Amino acid sequence: MRSLLIRNSNLLILGVLILLITGCSVSPDTVVESPDGEIRVAFNLNDAGAPAYEVFYKDQPVILSSSMGFDFKEMPSLKEGLKILDINFNSEDKTWPMPWGERDSVRNQYNEMHIALEETQAPNRKINIVFRAFDDGIGFRYEFPDQPGMQEVLITDEHTQFNLSGDHRVWWQPGDWDIYEHLYNETNFSEIDAISKRNDPNLKATYIPENAVNTPVTMKTSEGIYLSFHEADLTDYAGMTLKVDTSNNSMVSELVGSERTGGKAVISAPFNTPWRTIQIADRAGDLIESTLVLNLNDPNIIGDVSYFTPMKYVGIWWEMHLGKSTWDMEGSQSMNTFTKSGEIRPNHGATTENAMRYIDFAAENGIKGLLVEGWNTGWDKWINTDDREGVFDFMTPYADYDFDKVMAYAREKGVEVIMHHETSAAPLTYEKQMQVAYQFMKDNGMNSVKTGYVGKIIPKGEYHHGQWMVRHYHKVLEEAAKMKIAINAHEPIKDTGKRRTYPNAIAREGLRGQEFNAWSADGGNPPDHLPTVAFTRMLSGPIDFTPGIFNIRFDEYKPDNRVMTTLAHQLALYVVIYSPIQMLADLPEHYTENGKIHPALQFIRDVGVDWSESRVLSGEVGQFVTIARKERGTGNWFVGGITDEESRTEVIQLDFLEPGKTYRAALYKDAADAHWDSNPQAYEITSMDVTSEDSVEVILAPGGGFALSLMQK
Ligand code: NOJ
Ligand code: CA
Repeated sequence: MRSLLIRNSNLLILGVLILLITGCSVSPDTVVESPDGEIRVAFNLNDAGAPAYEVFYKDQPVILSSSMGFDFKEMPSLKEGLKILDINFNSEDKTWPMPWGERDSVRNQYNEMHIALEETQAPNRKINIVFRAFDDGIGFRYEFPDQPGMQEVLITDEHTQFNLSGDHRVWWQPGDWDIYEHLYNETNFSEIDAISKRNDPNLKATYIPENAVNTPVTMKTSEGIYLSFHEADLTDYAGMTLKVDTSNNSMVSELVGSERTGGKAVISAPFNTPWRTIQIADRAGDLIESTLVLNLNDPNIIGDVSYFTPMKYVGIWWEMHLGKSTWDMEGSQSMNTFTKSGEIRPNHGATTENAMRYIDFAAENGIKGLLVEGWNTGWDKWINTDDREGVFDFMTPYADYDFDKVMAYAREKGVEVIMHHETSAAPLTYEKQMQVAYQFMKDNGMNSVKTGYVGKIIPKGEYHHGQWMVRHYHKVLEEAAKMKIAINAHEPIKDTGKRRTYPNAIAREGLRGQEFNAWSADGGNPPDHLPTVAFTRMLSGPIDFTPGIFNIRFDEYKPDNRVMTTLAHQLALYVVIYSPIQMLADLPEHYTENGKIHPALQFIRDVGVDWSESRVLSGEVGQFVTIARKERGTGNWFVGGITDEESRTEVIQLDFLEPGKTYRAALYKDAADAHWDSNPQAYEITSMDVTSEDSVEVILAPGGGFALSLMQK
């Protein structure tokens, strides 16, 4: 307590000093610093009583003075005419355990500045702004304290500005209100053009109203500082896109709207908005190691989640995306939209026999989970129209899928079946069936479900990322938690660190996943896709990317599509792209070679899915990244590295290994003549004994990668 007081008074003195130095005597300036003193946030009210903030890193401005404010329906704006009622400083330094994750525990250390503001004139509304400064960045949010006239208020705009200090290099995707499944673009800030990303032929729902970007959006300044903008704890509010002013190096919050309310978010005081977050780092890899977004969420409120154990899984899934089989049993045209339009091929994937084949494969290879898509009725009726309510039923299996027999066989073989609920973006139908559907899962020993929201949201006028859907996704987490069920959402709301509070939120999609390689009109994800995702989408949370395609070209099924990486790159993804569930996405037959298991499958059999430590060894946004992770329980280490279309040499110092111990290393790397385009499946495996004194040199082919297992002897 004592040290806390001292620290706070130091901060106050600092605030006063800055006030004197800047000579800004009229407006009360207030400052809060990160615990290591490198990051500083300054708040001030100008003469008109308008709030603004600035952010400094190592004494250099990274966010220039930026304004804040709100517009409402049937109420004046709240942007100026404010005075400071009270300022409070606070600090915290606590460590919290992760039930599963990239590390055992997270240190939550920050200094906070809480500013209470009030309008000087009637209606004398109150608003607080809270800043938290961490060593890895800052967060701030608005609080509407309990007060008259603040019930069921419709926010029509939030104006949080982010004035950048230059025309930074930016890795961005359009501010789409309906989907995050875009490729990332790398341009200077002044060249951002989200409008040109409209009409993506691959997307069934997309809406890009402005020249805006989605978050996380990552930048590099000309001084070599990395910044990433996002939000934390999005629970009952609209998702935030950032509208860009390319002439001014400036961004402003643009909340996702609703045509039904004509606004952005309905709030009732007391109410806190999500945190607006800015990660700040000298090294690109530090963005990945940052825990800022998680720390800005509340602690676990659902208790024990040991019903979920991190796992690898196989699935009746890729075969439908390849067009080898169908989701529906009837052979209708409807769900063949992912394959070839108009083709009628009754060739149901989710049959009893096929499920048993996957179970055998999983059991033989020590893979815990099996996902079965297309097991339930409704897929034949899923026509991509507005009439999608009541299409899916989450209890009734197709006639050729003997649900009880599959479940009994899985149990006998020690395999856990993962439920699949495709809602077809009809959340009201899902909400009606949710409880019964979750009870059905529990009655059958199922602990996790992959949900999906393909298509335009019903009711019309709502968007995947608006408040109405944010509430739905949250309700799913809450209801599932009550039933001890874990959620892996596809077409989700972006992750904002909710897994800290609800650790049954195990993974999400929310990016252009592996499936695009099977059917996208542009041929697939380019080699720099995942080296970009690691520094953008991955900063928000675990990704169900579904790695592990060995049959890179699959000409037998889709001659015009392919995976644009090498096989070794696919192996590396089990380490690089974090998720507590990792799919072996390819067909079981592609994991065998000459009747024996494919030699490279050994890495996937060995690799961990739950970590006590994670370290980013090297990386540059959009170019390459190498990550080392230590498996919980065993102490084995796994390293994965990927590159874009450039070949690279990486030297991995093994100094993270426990000194004095010998590890058996197996290196899975690109063959000397490997190339993502011309020779993607050429790989080599070498083994050796190593200690913490050793290093490993490896050459990554264009579009290539490597995977290294380090098992204790
Ligand atoms: C889109 C999901 O991303 C994909 O994984 C799933 O197979 C289909 N929807 C069908 O639900
Ligand atoms: Ca998807």
